[in-house]
Amino acid sequence: MSLAVTQRDDWKLATVLPRADPLLAVAWYAILLLRGVLPALLAVAMGVLVGAIERGDPLSAPLAAVGGIFVLLQVVNPVHQAIGLNLGDRTAAWLYDRLTEASVRPPGMGHLEDPKLTSDLVVARDFDLGMTGPPLSLSMDFIASGLVELIAGLAAAIVLIGYAWWAGLLLAAAWLSTHWLLRESAVWRDRNTEEVRAAQRDSDYAYRLAVDPPAAKELRLFGLVDWTMERFISRRTRLHNLQYTATRLRERSLTWSVLVVVGANLVVFWSLASSAANGSLDLGRLVTFATTAVGASTIAFGGLSWALDGAAAPVAAVLRLEPSMRHAGALPSGARSAAGSPVHEIRFRDVSFGYPGSETRVLEGFDVSIPAGSSLAIVGPNGAGKTTLAKLLCRLYDPIGGGIEVDGVDLRELDLESWRARVTAVFQDFIRFELPMRDNVAPRGAPDEVIRAALAEAGAGDLASLDTVLARGYPNSTDLSGGQWQRVALARALCAIKRGAGLVLLDEPTAQLDVRGEAEIFDRILAATRGVTTILISHRFSTVRHADRICVLEHGRVVELGTHAELMALGGRYHTMFELQAQRFTASEDEEGVSYEVLV
Ligand SMILES: Nc1ncnc2c1ncn2[C@@H]1O[C@H](COP(=O)(O)OP(=O)(O)OP(=O)(O)O)[C@@H](O)[C@H]1O
Ligand SMILES: [Mg+2]
Repeated sequence: MSLAVTQRDDWKLATVLPRADPLLAVAWYAILLLRGVLPALLAVAMGVLVGAIERGDPLSAPLAAVGGIFVLLQVVNPVHQAIGLNLGDRTAAWLYDRLTEASVRPPGMGHLEDPKLTSDLVVARDFDLGMTGPPLSLSMDFIASGLVELIAGLAAAIVLIGYAWWAGLLLAAAWLSTHWLLRESAVWRDRNTEEVRAAQRDSDYAYRLAVDPPAAKELRLFGLVDWTMERFISRRTRLHNLQYTATRLRERSLTWSVLVVVGANLVVFWSLASSAANGSLDLGRLVTFATTAVGASTIAFGGLSWALDGAAAPVAAVLRLEPSMRHAGALPSGARSAAGSPVHEIRFRDVSFGYPGSETRVLEGFDVSIPAGSSLAIVGPNGAGKTTLAKLLCRLYDPIGGGIEVDGVDLRELDLESWRARVTAVFQDFIRFELPMRDNVAPRGAPDEVIRAALAEAGAGDLASLDTVLARGYPNSTDLSGGQWQRVALARALCAIKRGAGLVLLDEPTAQLDVRGEAEIFDRILAATRGVTTILISHRFSTVRHADRICVLEHGRVVELGTHAELMALGGRYHTMFELQAQRFTASEDEEGVSYEVLV
């Protein structure tokens, strides 16, 4: 098979069908072929019947053949439709499975952030929801009709070769040439241009803004309703215009097509007529060949291409995405077990890092060590690289220069799964599972009493029962406030510590808690994480000061490192930031004797 054919999107669709469901695909292809050849067989049978009538031969066999083929033609159609519908559904499901796998399996995250992959992801992600074309189950019927016509036309031309080889070839070539002449109108060739993808992404975004609840508040408040509608409509109109220009019939090619087809038909029908007139073609054969000469016309460009193109583009996108995402998200795992580590220390050794596709270095020669069992707080301005450090420590990315060592072993030499099992985190943008409280606290499962204890430590013991789904719109469900969610995320990390995690990353873990809540919880967090290596990222100096050591990060480098007392004595950055915040807060005690900070 030539490379050009196997690289075509429609070829990819053809080969995906048997991978999605071999039995249905074989049946679909077999019936496709049958539907394609039946009209030519009917033409032959009609010819035989007319010939028998002319000669006065017995009619029962030819009549039975005509009747049989006719009935078959009627029966196979709905059967084929039903098979196509199911095969289309299964193929779509198969593709979604592949896409889900390709997105979720890679151990890294680079594949989800690579701009080169996002456009394919947009084409592939929602392709069966009818947003970019009909669902595959419906397209299968259009594709089948188009292919049946093509096969039927070719079969008719082959039968016509029985009359004269040149007649069959001439008509087949003439009708096939329409595909070539009108190819621009047949295929939405602009489908994958950057312009189409950009318009598609924009309209997709505007649509999601409009229909997803989280955007509802700001859209209304900032008067963006019209803006969203206008953006959605204008981008979709742009898409439709691009589609229209691409599918519009080109006048000149149309003229050429008509001339070629009319010319070829004139020659063949003139020859048939003169053969019949001079008696070299009997009536029966004339019926067969005239019918097939007309039948060859179904080779002509029809509805096949657009249906095929629309269905094949996302298939090709998924198949392209699979290896690219695997590559972009790859992080080779080492073989050494991380069980029990860190025992001595975690060391960032001269770490440099920049996000894929960006020239900017987020971290530059970052060097710090954290003795196992101690806590390190990281403070620094927005964008300094604090969250990035946390991501590197989870090995979601690898450093570009230097390395992270756990007890002297580079993270890249450790078995990825076993290392991640040692780490737990409250990320700045932690996940809010639309699942029961139990699964939110222990996604990998834990005994209920451990979950309850973790929730109690995070001050979330009475938020909801373990079976309550934390989302709106489910039976027995409730949504939580920002701060309540943060307590659940904390409980998740505390539960993981109880289950044996040896390193905990807390990235702004109390940023959404009220001041009193924070003061209450922080002591409990400290107690729970005692003996566990802890990295605490926070802008709140009241929490930071409790850490064993504090590191001030600026522009990806350590600018100060020491205990709270040491850094205060140093009178540098930390001292300034601490004083600045302290001026705005003052310690206060409520009627129950709990001390907390209040803004003055
Ligand atoms: N996925 C990403 N791709 C490209 N650049 C990124 C990505 N995530 C973060 N950055 C950039 O890296 C830099 C450091 O970001 P990071 O999130 O580590 O900052 P931070 O110190 O946690 O800030 P904050 O205090 O606001 O949380 C920023 O300039 C940011 O724009
Ligand atoms: Mg951050």
